[in-house]
Amino acid sequence: MRYLILADLHSNIEALDALLEIVGEEEFDHYLILGDLVGYGASPLEVIDRVRELQPQTCIRGNHDKVCSSIETGDNFNLVAREAAYWTRKVLDEDRIHYLKELPKGPIEFGDGLMAAHGAPHDEDFYITSRKDAYHVFQSYEFRVCFYGHSHINGAYSYDRKNLDYLSSTANLWGYYLEPDRRYLINPGSVGQPRDRNPHACCAVYDSEQRHLKMIRAQYDIKSAQQRICNAPLHQSLATRLEIGS
Ligand SMILES: [Fe+2]
Repeated sequence: MRYLILADLHSNIEALDALLEIVGEEEFDHYLILGDLVGYGASPLEVIDRVRELQPQTCIRGNHDKVCSSIETGDNFNLVAREAAYWTRKVLDEDRIHYLKELPKGPIEFGDGLMAAHGAPHDEDFYITSRKDAYHVFQSYEFRVCFYGHSHINGAYSYDRKNLDYLSSTANLWGYYLEPDRRYLINPGSVGQPRDRNPHACCAVYDSEQRHLKMIRAQYDIKSAQQRICNAPLHQSLATRLEIGS
């Protein structure tokens, strides 16, 4: 099975379309979307509609999807994120709110030993940002490969009961063959708001037969996404951070 894996799209249609175009020649058996379709950016309708077209799919919710569809209040958000979520609530119609509300909570198991989570399997709002965090997840769950998002940082932890390694890169294309005796925790990076100082949109392709992982970045029309944010209007900082990848 060949999977296209997308996370943290954050209402950035320019970024999503650029990635879909760059992988357009490839065929996928399944689409995996790790949550945060909306929030921060100014194109929630377009992103939800585009994601729904990607079939067959497994799509789980993220923390912004919960606040933007009023499952949660956003009390734990900073002011800029909360204002963007409340703006998103205003522009979403009933159908799209219903879609977001019905997105399942992670973790979800799919395929053979594969798992998907937004933040971490034990808590969808938890940020995996260290080897200690990753070790806890490897100890607590049985997956062979778990894909996660939320931190917006592209990279992969791997574990063989002795060593826990972490590989990340800001290259526009990197990847490797997964070793059969290791387990993996893989973050494809963020489609719509990368935070590792490379502003290009990120995604991952995983071939479960070949056990090959490919991380891909695409340049996109950042100015257009920024202009939409300013016109919405959403906070200026949401536009600025797109061009520095933070
Ligand atoms: Fe996110």
